[in-house]
Amino acid sequence: MTATREKLKVTPSGGPAGAYVTGIDLSHTLEAEEAAALKQALADHLVIALPDQAISLDDLERLTDQLGGRDITPFVKPLADRPYVIRILKEPQDKLNFANAWHTDLSYLPAPPSYTLLYCLECPPTGGDTLFANQYRAFETLAPDLREELLGLDAVHSAGMAYGDGGYLDRVKHMLSTEIEPSKDARREQIHPAVVSHPDTGNPALYINQVYTTRIDGWEKSQSDDLLARLAKQSVDESLVWRLKWAKGTLAIWDNRATQHFAMNDYQGYRREMVRTSVKGAAPKRAKF
Ligand code: SIN
Repeated sequence: MTATREKLKVTPSGGPAGAYVTGIDLSHTLEAEEAAALKQALADHLVIALPDQAISLDDLERLTDQLGGRDITPFVKPLADRPYVIRILKEPQDKLNFANAWHTDLSYLPAPPSYTLLYCLECPPTGGDTLFANQYRAFETLAPDLREELLGLDAVHSAGMAYGDGGYLDRVKHMLSTEIEPSKDARREQIHPAVVSHPDTGNPALYINQVYTTRIDGWEKSQSDDLLARLAKQSVDESLVWRLKWAKGTLAIWDNRATQHFAMNDYQGYRREMVRTSVKGAAPKRAKF
């Protein structure tokens, strides 16, 4: 074990998800043991917050590669010369912020990202927290008959409602500083199991979210809408949620296979700026009965 590795400390948040990781300097290439420790902390806690990191965009991209390889984030304009990095920005005069709805990142892709990295460059003195809901617990806490039914279902995901031409973000993009690139391609559909098996832990997680899941595959619309509405409520019940308070220099990493998240919009008149990357994932696999 190296000196750096010995100092790495994981402190659970005490909530349904989340841990703080200290004793690691992300401005250097991680040792293999350090990268493994971060992945283990993510497997155990689903979201990790690493405070007081002074990192460059090169460092952020290198860390993304060390966690599995960078991937594109569709429909949001990347930084100039950084096709894998997006800026999440709210200016003091903006009424709307980005990601102010419960979702799992890019669940509309055939292989959604395993992790998302979000690094805080500037944040308001209070507010602007991100909420994370534990989707293992969301599944565990459903009624047994519903759990059993969900294990056999597939759900259709699409970015159309959010990023499609004429979709929600297209209509409000003049009120947002995060640069959205609406497209007809966002209307493509992708089917995933309603309950997925986490590739590292083997645990079943509910894989349904309000922004991208459009229907239960093969179900009649009103029946599908009813089930999705019920799951939308139960999957983000406050008993499942951990709230991350940001400070400049905090890097958060979350596991998209087992969480949903929501960015609060409660800091009118202040600026908040983040940069974000995605780690390549694999096609979600159905959890077993
Ligand atoms: C996101 O969903 O990537 C953004 C979350 C945030 O800004 O807190």
